[in-house]
Amino acid sequence: MRNLTWRIARPIGPVLSPDDFALADEAVPDITDGQVLVRTLYIGIAPGVRPLLPYAALQPDVAGDAKTGRARATEKDAAQLWRIQVGDRMQSGIIPPTSPYSGGTVGQVVRSRHPGFAERDYIFGGVHWQEYEAVDGDFSLRLDPAELPLEADLAAVGRSAFTGWIGYRRYCDAKPGETIVVSAAAGAVGMLVVQMAKAEGLTVIGIASGEDKCAFVTETLGADGCIDRLSQDIGSALDRFAPEGVDIYFDNVGGLAQRPVYDRLKPFGRLIVCGMAAEYGGTESSTLPTGMILAKRLRIQGFVVLDHEDEYPDFRADISRLLRAGALTYQTTIYDGIEQAPQALADCLSGRNAGGKLIVRVGEAATLTINENGLS
Ligand SMILES: NC(=O)c1ccc[n+]([C@@H]2O[C@H](COP(=O)([O-])OP(=O)(O)OC[C@H]3O[C@@H](n4cnc5c(N)ncnc54)[C@H](OP(=O)(O)O)[C@@H]3O)[C@@H](O)[C@H]2O)c1
Repeated sequence: MRNLTWRIARPIGPVLSPDDFALADEAVPDITDGQVLVRTLYIGIAPGVRPLLPYAALQPDVAGDAKTGRARATEKDAAQLWRIQVGDRMQSGIIPPTSPYSGGTVGQVVRSRHPGFAERDYIFGGVHWQEYEAVDGDFSLRLDPAELPLEADLAAVGRSAFTGWIGYRRYCDAKPGETIVVSAAAGAVGMLVVQMAKAEGLTVIGIASGEDKCAFVTETLGADGCIDRLSQDIGSALDRFAPEGVDIYFDNVGGLAQRPVYDRLKPFGRLIVCGMAAEYGGTESSTLPTGMILAKRLRIQGFVVLDHEDEYPDFRADISRLLRAGALTYQTTIYDGIEQAPQALADCLSGRNAGGKLIVRVGEAATLTINENGLS
């Protein structure tokens, strides 16, 4: 039986390319007690995996070890570097699983040696870019397709959306009437921040690349304005959209986009550091002006969503309610076929995508049949 699996082919340069990965048909793995064999249906694509991959040139200062950012991390975690090496199977991001909410793929169980899962159950918990994966049941969620579409666990109630929800709720300290700027505003995290801030009465200005994504940010997500970072000067556009200055910068990208926003933060403004997508390739970096931080009494707040796993059920309930009420848009862009996974990641990192959360559809649930050996 076929088990297409992506592995890392070589160290990766500043611009990630599909040629950096190799596809092979490999043996379907055996499972041990506590595991389930999962047929992957969807893979979530996330830019944050890039710093874990090998670099062809100098490794930029964008990723820590397994202890970084984890409030309950142990010394064992500190010893373990979160890195994916040449020859390793490609992962969708999280290494190792930290909770039942830390998966990167959705699939269907074809064989189970875990008491919580039976054949044909839908499961969120796999992490590899492969068709069949042995997954730890303890770090997985059993999904109910009657509650939400299966791919929702990689999208509206997935980790990126959870990041936007936590980042906005716990760290922005936002008040109605304030002005917030959100970079990568059409992306998986940004989409949620834009809509939450708008719903709470803030003036919201997005940054995205291209006319279509900017139109999505204003017309569909409801932002008051969106700056096309490819064709507009961010600083002068901000002077038009927010002549009084900016209260909060929700920064998903770091790099060169950061400084013009930073210069326009008001006294007591907040810079919320969510991610550094512009810096992952190693060509851009951040230079924050210390004197301005002091003079303007600015607050810089980084956060890591892994610290907030206990709030995931609240997030899931909140988003499910908003979706049922039609009060939230969460766009996905689907790439069809596991062969498309590297291209999807390349597009996500460069911004040459249609916006929304990028998902690779590997298989159809409806086509899954399980024979007497438990295999499809
Ligand atoms: N703190 C946490 O716990 C946590 C958790 C998850 C994710 N993150 C981070 O959150 C950020 C957003 O994640 P996401 O999944 O929503 O990604 P995303 O927005 O879907 O994809 C990244 C986007 O960054 C923008 N970008 C790329 N290069 C850029 C450059 N040179 N300058 C400016 N913008 C550039 C592109 O959007 P445009 O081309 O449209 O600008 C690109 O599509 C990422 O940095 C991610 O690593 C943090």
